[in-house]
Amino acid sequence: MSHLIGLISASNTLPTLYHQIEQLDAFGFRGVVALHGGQDGLSETSVAGLPAGIVDAIGDTPTNRVLLRLDWGDPAQHAMRVCRDLIGVVMRGSLQNSTSLANRLQSLGYTADAKNPTELISALIHWYHRTQRDLTRATQSAVQELVGLFAISVIERDNPGEIVVATSGIPILIASHQNGFAFSDQLSPLLPFARDLIRLIPGEVASITPTQVQIIDASGSPTRRNPEPISPRNERAALDRFGHFMGKEIHEQPALLADTLTRNGLTPSLAELLGDEGARLLANIDAVVIVASGSSYHAALTARYWLEGVAGLPTSVELASEYRYLDGVVPNNTLAIGVSQSGETADTLAALRHAEYLGASVTLGVSNVRDSKLMQLAKLQLANEVGPEIAVTSTKTFTAQLLSMYQLSLGLAQQRGRLTGAALEEATRLLSLLPRAALGVLALEPVLDQWAQRLARSTHLFCVGRHSNYPIAREGALKMQEVAYLHAEGHPGGELKHGPLALVDADLPVVACLPWNPLAEKLLANLQEVRARHGELFVLSDAGLAAADRLNVARMPEDLRELNPILYAIALQLLAYRIAVCKGNEIDAPRHLAKAFATEQ
Ligand code: BG6
Repeated sequence: MSHLIGLISASNTLPTLYHQIEQLDAFGFRGVVALHGGQDGLSETSVAGLPAGIVDAIGDTPTNRVLLRLDWGDPAQHAMRVCRDLIGVVMRGSLQNSTSLANRLQSLGYTADAKNPTELISALIHWYHRTQRDLTRATQSAVQELVGLFAISVIERDNPGEIVVATSGIPILIASHQNGFAFSDQLSPLLPFARDLIRLIPGEVASITPTQVQIIDASGSPTRRNPEPISPRNERAALDRFGHFMGKEIHEQPALLADTLTRNGLTPSLAELLGDEGARLLANIDAVVIVASGSSYHAALTARYWLEGVAGLPTSVELASEYRYLDGVVPNNTLAIGVSQSGETADTLAALRHAEYLGASVTLGVSNVRDSKLMQLAKLQLANEVGPEIAVTSTKTFTAQLLSMYQLSLGLAQQRGRLTGAALEEATRLLSLLPRAALGVLALEPVLDQWAQRLARSTHLFCVGRHSNYPIAREGALKMQEVAYLHAEGHPGGELKHGPLALVDADLPVVACLPWNPLAEKLLANLQEVRARHGELFVLSDAGLAAADRLNVARMPEDLRELNPILYAIALQLLAYRIAVCKGNEIDAPRHLAKAFATEQ
């Protein structure tokens, strides 16, 4: 999880910053980068540790403006860049057109690494500023060329009285404070002092000075926005417009996926993902066993399709609470992976120890919590770091697990010479499209809410998928159980006729994940069987299917092939959430469940 924050004041802004920082210490951030300064030069500061550490790092030399990025993981130095000592950028998000931009900027004489969006953006703004001599206009011209999901903040050395911000899908909120303005991508960092706020619309650029905010829209025309009052400041204020943390965490996913892709790179090598030692230790593995519980188990089941299909490694996936007592056999040169968002689930810890006892040659922990027991136990660590997940049911940590295990599979495939040339380029292209595609899934909320009103009257339902979307159907069913209290089951489409079809009637709705891929026709045939028995269908698909009687269709943004499980997982999370809202359930703390079980179950 990251926060993009900035402040500008008529005088020294540091006291306001330090007041704000105190409030943020509690959020568990552990990495801060800061860009500040003026005509004497722009200064880049980076601190590993609690946000308060930035106070000492910046020191007390008065400065009237500062741009910050706070991360739950390491300081995001890749997200801060100063181009030719003049234009400084701090950002969140990722770009889709990095390669073509880098080629263009290199031809213009700039240092431009396609793997570093911040470097590309600061150079592009510098290029436009050379002729336009206006930071807002230069930023707006640059934003016109950028394709991706991002929020950027920009300062110019020789113009100390201004910060320029721009958004393309990651929110920017601007609030006034005592003697100036502040902005952030979330409400909570602004709560300490903000009285009212302005929300930028994607495509807009805003110039912020100590006395005013000027907004220009995507066409470059000035536009006005009335500040909205901030709702009462209680513990739910941080929820901003969301009714529940589950809803907020579902909506954070596109930006979190974008941040992870920029932090890790799109198709990182194993050494980039796990370090040289990690790459060395995985060079000789011949098989994989994954142990996990709950949603993490479904993420592991999905990852098997990538570890076998992309990396060519035979992979078994085990329920931790069962595996820990299995007199199992672990082949030589086996990598044992423990997947757990909390990193504290006792069954998963015991199962990983058991795999090591049975002979696994290397262990890897995949967790959202870097210093958790799982990460201490495992030889290698792959941290997701999407910030604390408050709601009991896993959402953002689930898609983060999927993305990091997909990147792990690509790294293994590259190391084994199975992913080169066109195939690697295609994987890179698909990954660059992921954040905006995820945003496209969130845009389905009104349709999914209509489905929810209908499904809230049901007592049971099936979720169905094929291939790597079968585990996602199981995860969707788990979400329906956890928060919507529906008796839901996840089934592979091809298995319906081997039993579950017996339960289908007019009272059993079936939700289907139907990406238009080589298996689509087969799943459609399975769904025809359901319709033939009067089952009502709710189909998620990127194909232009026509709705019909008892056939409801929601159009998914696009077919991202191996990455489709991430998109369909978000759609099913959103559907379960909307059903739970319709039913008025206790969503963030559902009955009988807990976030993690650190003792055996
Ligand atoms: C349960 C949670 O307690 O543990 C689930 O309610 C979660 O949401 C499961 O998936 C496994 O947790 P972890 O932390 O090991 O991924």
